[in-house]
Amino acid sequence: MPNKEKQSKQILITGATGNVGVEVIRYLMSSDHDHTIIAGVRNVERAKTAFKNHPKLHYVAFDFEDPDTFNYALRDIDTIFLLRPPHLSNVDSCFRPLIEKVKEHSIREILFLSVQGAEKSSVIPHNKIEKLISEFDVGYIFLRPSYFMQNLTTTLLSDIQRKGRIVLPAGRAAFNWIDVKNIGEAAAILLTNFSDYKNQAYEITGYENASFYDVAALMNRKVSGRIEYKNVNPLRFFWIKWKDGMPTEIIIVMIALHVLPRFQEEPEISNLYEHLTGKKPTTLAEFFEREIDVFE
Ligand SMILES: NC(=O)c1ccc[n+]([C@@H]2O[C@H](COP(=O)([O-])OP(=O)(O)OC[C@H]3O[C@@H](n4cnc5c(N)ncnc54)[C@H](OP(=O)(O)O)[C@@H]3O)[C@@H](O)[C@H]2O)c1
Repeated sequence: MPNKEKQSKQILITGATGNVGVEVIRYLMSSDHDHTIIAGVRNVERAKTAFKNHPKLHYVAFDFEDPDTFNYALRDIDTIFLLRPPHLSNVDSCFRPLIEKVKEHSIREILFLSVQGAEKSSVIPHNKIEKLISEFDVGYIFLRPSYFMQNLTTTLLSDIQRKGRIVLPAGRAAFNWIDVKNIGEAAAILLTNFSDYKNQAYEITGYENASFYDVAALMNRKVSGRIEYKNVNPLRFFWIKWKDGMPTEIIIVMIALHVLPRFQEEPEISNLYEHLTGKKPTTLAEFFEREIDVFE
């Protein structure tokens, strides 16, 4: 386990109100350090309400799509937790101006939330953002998580609740399942001990690879009500989601996320979470037990 960094830093958290950001903030606010934590958000008032249990959290207006917010938000910042909101895929228009400003402000530490396998696929935005950060020679940590368990309680939830189904073009592909709380806890440790982990990429995964057939079977043992996994081809998936009103760019991201693993090796398992915390990552069974109210 890491030694605590002594020097106090100003840490800016982007994507603070999202799945991962909320957990990063929760762990940062409950751990023992002298750092100042600042949530960089589009709507400060809404964020203050969402984080009312963290009175010591600071806020600054920050919008990836509005470069006028960058200078003020980056003032006196030492370390950034950088996340790519799922709808932002144009790296040159959104992220390049931001990283230029990061450099201008002499910020030397960026923890970028990437994705497992980002280094192997030059078309995904995470790959381009990793290259951009390296190009600007800013100290970095690339944290590459596997497939979020929380996809079941967010993107896939309405089909589960309304239709008792998970509909995806994922075939029998095995996904590695990680709890976003584990990512948040690991990220908080990396942010507060940056120099120990600097200029490296780390995958963060759970210990289970499982297909959607396996996950539906497990859900049926853990949660009341019957859940079926329906494998559909990508075109049919596009049609179903388009009729449901899902934005085209999100459908395309979902197709890529669920079809590509069918043609890839099973995900590799990383022990980063256990290495950092001394604890085992959440299992799928534990996740369903913890989130039972959401499903029922
Ligand atoms: N899902 C997976 O299985 C998986 C696996 C590996 C990696 N990832 C990666 O994880 C990332 C998504 O993380 P997440 O699930 O925590 O995201 P999320 O829940 O969708 O949250 C997105 C966050 O970004 C903020 N945001 C959106 N547009 C913004 C803008 N223009 N300026 C400033 N902030 C903005 C949102 O704030 P508001 O409150 O203002 O909307 C929100 O806090 C993606 O890069 C994804 O590729 C996902």
